[in-house]
Amino acid sequence: MIFSNSKLLPKRIYISYLSISNYNKFKKKGVVMIIPIINQKGGVGKTTTAVNLASRFAKMEHKTLLIDLDPQANATIGVGLNSQERAFTNVDFSEYLSVMPSSKELSFKVLENDSLKNILKEEDFEFILIDCPPTLNHLSINALTAGDFAIIPLRSGDYYSLFGLKDIFSTIESSNSNLDFKILVTNIDERRSITSHFIKKLIGTVGKEKLFSTGIRIDTKLSEAPFIGKAIDLYDANSKGSIDYGDLAMEILNLN
Ligand SMILES: Nc1ncnc2c1ncn2[C@@H]1O[C@H](COP(=O)(O)OP(=O)(O)O)[C@@H](O)[C@H]1O
Ligand SMILES: [Mg+2]
Repeated sequence: MIFSNSKLLPKRIYISYLSISNYNKFKKKGVVMIIPIINQKGGVGKTTTAVNLASRFAKMEHKTLLIDLDPQANATIGVGLNSQERAFTNVDFSEYLSVMPSSKELSFKVLENDSLKNILKEEDFEFILIDCPPTLNHLSINALTAGDFAIIPLRSGDYYSLFGLKDIFSTIESSNSNLDFKILVTNIDERRSITSHFIKKLIGTVGKEKLFSTGIRIDTKLSEAPFIGKAIDLYDANSKGSIDYGDLAMEILNLN
């Protein structure tokens, strides 16, 4: 779902007009884009975003690594892996998608090295998505330090979450002041007027440029997909969730 800027109301448009020229410029430089997905609140859509965006980038034939930095291992389970079985190693799902499952070794290494960047610098990927735990602890801070661009998911209509933003902003400021970020509004119910109130309040708080134009609508298919360990585009490619995460992937490819 793409927000209509004029009316702040959800409006669907198709993505075919988007050019990929910016991304191509960036890709030619051979740069890896490290994207931490962060919010100290649980249940805002961090893991859902990490899993589905990773799958979408891979589908678009961009070499992608999904790192599960949350000891609760939700992303690991969401792609159909068992966290107990895997130590510190990447699991290749396809030519384009690899997953580094949650493990004690991973947490230990990230804490020990004090920089995820040291672990990742040998990796040969175009996108590295990091699913962070629901706390602003050392693991999250190391993800921010290594990051190029952070995604902060917020649940639509959760007024209190707007107050939590300042803790995230100050953590970003103190760990990596060069880190750019945007807020992703998730769990949007298009029929409720609270949606447009929330978006208006959010824009008033952070500014329009800090908000993704794409929002993620409520879609029960997104909560069903982890049960079979699949990303939404593999579970139901025509669902709202699949369309919205496709739009989000395109928006990120077009970031300046
Ligand atoms: N857009 C959505 N529509 C419906 N359910 C969603 C949506 N996004 C997330 N969920 C569900 O909400 C719950 C919390 O999402 P999750 O991604 O695990 O949040 P977090 O990682 O921030 O704790 C999960 O059960 C997930 O399937
Ligand atoms: Mg999670």
